[in-house]
Amino acid sequence: MKITVIGAGNVGATCAQRIAEGDLGDVVLVDIVEGLPQGKALDLLEAAPVMGHSRSVVGANGYDETTGSDVVVMTAGLARKPGMSRDDLQKMNAEIVEGAITEAHRRSPGAIFVMVTNPLDIMCEVAYRVVGGDPSRVFGMAGVLDSARFRAFIALELGVAMEDVQAMVLGGHGDTMVPLPRFSTVSGISIVHLLPAERIEALAQRTRDGGAEIVGLLKTGSAYYAPAAATFQMVEAVVRDKKRILPVAARLSGQYGIDGQYLGVPAKLGAGGIEEIIELPLTDGELAELRRSAEHVRAGVEALG
Ligand code: APR
Repeated sequence: MKITVIGAGNVGATCAQRIAEGDLGDVVLVDIVEGLPQGKALDLLEAAPVMGHSRSVVGANGYDETTGSDVVVMTAGLARKPGMSRDDLQKMNAEIVEGAITEAHRRSPGAIFVMVTNPLDIMCEVAYRVVGGDPSRVFGMAGVLDSARFRAFIALELGVAMEDVQAMVLGGHGDTMVPLPRFSTVSGISIVHLLPAERIEALAQRTRDGGAEIVGLLKTGSAYYAPAAATFQMVEAVVRDKKRILPVAARLSGQYGIDGQYLGVPAKLGAGGIEEIIELPLTDGELAELRRSAEHVRAGVEALG
């Protein structure tokens, strides 16, 4: 397997590390800054003997080295600064995504594209417009991260093992995301049976604000360890054909009454990319929240023109 990671910043370099050290494939790291991807790739390669893998890790400022990639992970773009919303990033990052995905797709027309650049759902649409064809091969990482944050907060609140907590967060990656307590569980027990409603809402709100909380602390950048871990899990599902059920930013075609746009929904991820989109039996209230989130994403896409 050959995996290209575009963007050698915090998220991209950490993804490259997890992918190489997780033995998923050979990695090509691309960035516009001269020396940056080459330096980080060499540093990662020099860790290989210690970490015990033999994957090649190569850095480049162009795309020729990416030719024939099986998976392309897109992290290049500008990260949020304090007080900046994901939507503020939209125009700047749309140009970066369009240019980079065009170059990568030209050299790897059969690749699966995993989008990470924010605003995520809109950047998925920008990439899809370049790649075209089967939308199951272009999707985005958001729900795994948002759900991981919800899982961590639930585990901390209840004082239980992180690994026993599962959670489902759907919708767009932003303030309108939709945490679903009914479908969030501790070893199969829904959290609605374990926590009072107001505590659940507080944890859901902390999840919605999860990215901003980190930006506020870091001051000069946004989260990257958890985003890279979430991206790794999705790439692993594809590379190892794991058929994992994960929340994925997928292009919907009528599911949940939403057509022709990206939104976070549960999906089966395997070698073919998105192999199935799962429609949960949502209550009217949950569905209304999801559609509100979809409206927000749609407005962002319309603003692209
Ligand atoms: N081509 C390739 N790389 C680019 C381009 C481009 N056209 N434009 C910018 N980059 C690179 C930058 O040089 C930088 O190294 O993208 C990298 C971004 O890295 P960071 O600034 O560290 O940002 P990061 O924290 O990695 O976040 C990247 O992921 O989670 C999202 O919101 C986040 O959209 C942001 C993206």
